[in-house]
Amino acid sequence: MNKNEEQAAFTKLGELNQRRQEEINAAAATDLPKTYPMNELVKALHPATQYLKVTEIIDHGPDAKSFVFAPDKDKGTTKLATFQPGQYISLRLHIGDSYVTRPYAIRSTPLQAKEGKYVLTMKLVNGGFVTPYIWKNWQVGTTVAASGPAGELFYEPLRDGKNIVAIAGGSGITPFYSMAQAILENTLDVNLTILYGSRRHDNILLGDELQGIAEQTNRVKLVNVLSDEEVPGFEHGFISKDLIEKYAPAADYSIFISGPSVMYQFVMKEVAQLHLAPGRVRHELNGNTAAPDQFAGYPAEAKGKTFSMTVITRDQSKTIPAAANESLLIALERAGIIAPSMCRSGICSACRSQVLDGHTFTPTEFDHRRAADREFGYVNTCVAYPTSDLTLKVPVHDYANQFG
Ligand SMILES: Cc1cc2nc3c(=O)[nH]c(=O)nc-3n(C[C@H](O)[C@H](O)[C@H](O)COP(=O)(O)OP(=O)(O)OC[C@H]3O[C@@H](n4cnc5c(N)ncnc54)[C@H](O)[C@@H]3O)c2cc1C
Ligand code: FES
Repeated sequence: MNKNEEQAAFTKLGELNQRRQEEINAAAATDLPKTYPMNELVKALHPATQYLKVTEIIDHGPDAKSFVFAPDKDKGTTKLATFQPGQYISLRLHIGDSYVTRPYAIRSTPLQAKEGKYVLTMKLVNGGFVTPYIWKNWQVGTTVAASGPAGELFYEPLRDGKNIVAIAGGSGITPFYSMAQAILENTLDVNLTILYGSRRHDNILLGDELQGIAEQTNRVKLVNVLSDEEVPGFEHGFISKDLIEKYAPAADYSIFISGPSVMYQFVMKEVAQLHLAPGRVRHELNGNTAAPDQFAGYPAEAKGKTFSMTVITRDQSKTIPAAANESLLIALERAGIIAPSMCRSGICSACRSQVLDGHTFTPTEFDHRRAADREFGYVNTCVAYPTSDLTLKVPVHDYANQFG
């Protein structure tokens, strides 16, 4: 730059500064808004945390309960986030030294959420960690922290036909209950055929309530399938390809599956024979298994061992035990480390962490990672099991201190 060019640039800068000052002087003397409507909308639709208060508990026999929640206004939640029928929220609990999450499908409807009500229906898991705690401790007035709604098990007009065949096992019925109720309310425009697997006719969770809905609308069809007994009016056996074809509509349909992983493994083999487009088959199930060695590709020498896992979170490092039959996420939770998680099924990637050294095993059935993640050592800790000593880098999330 020669002297003349330097002088011209200097003059230009002076002009710009003067214009800036004029604009500032001409601006209104009011403060900038503290929030913007678009930001408020995003927060309402996708809150990082919702604080909920139990307002009612409904018993469904000895091992199932429904919990009715309202927003916990004392903790700053004034409205419940809306959702798509079929989605879940992830409860965050501080139990003993552990910070744990558990996903539960919202079994009420978006219309009820607008009126300030979510309903979750849970089955007590004997030998479980969270449900026995809830059975013992929760009462009307109990408060709990939860995520915003999440999950892919909902009707998406761009992807799905107007007909949904829902395959449910046990407490996996809850997302479809929400859909059935929304159809009855006329807020969901689909036809739903529910193939509902239970052991016996006298332990069908929400069976009478669902039957009541099916009797009020011809858009919801309920087929109960009993594995352990033959009863007139019920199908007997497992949910097979033949049974799906018997009840599926003649028109185009999507299949949604929700239930325990044993049911999923059986049903997926049957569903594969129907040759539906991949986007037309979606599932949600608890990926947590205490027997990773039952899955193909497990290194037999790891079975029964406890490894040493060095965990790096931000600038801290801690070495903890990691049992071969528990996921890395459970090892973190047992050690009192706050680790991110949502679906606990290998699907959402909220728990994505990096293995810096050592080895892990993820059953193919639960491995939904991108190829690049596999290549660069990222795992979803909820479905990854240690197979050697290892070092794991875990991200810290903004809701780290929002457990209830
Ligand atoms: C998308 C989705 C939706 C779901 N919706 C529903 C629903 O609507 N209704 C329903 O009933 N269920 C639902 N589930 C299942 C639910 O999330 C839980 O898996 C279920 O309630 C069992 O929880 P639990 O803790 O009692 O048992 P488990 O999850 O089986 O807990 C036992 C496990 O906790 C671990 N553990 C033991 N001690 C500790 C410790 N100190 N710290 C940390 N971990 C420890 C152990 O590894 C043990 O395996 C859903 C699951 C998914 C994925
Ligand atoms: S919590 Fe969703 S992938 Fe692990």
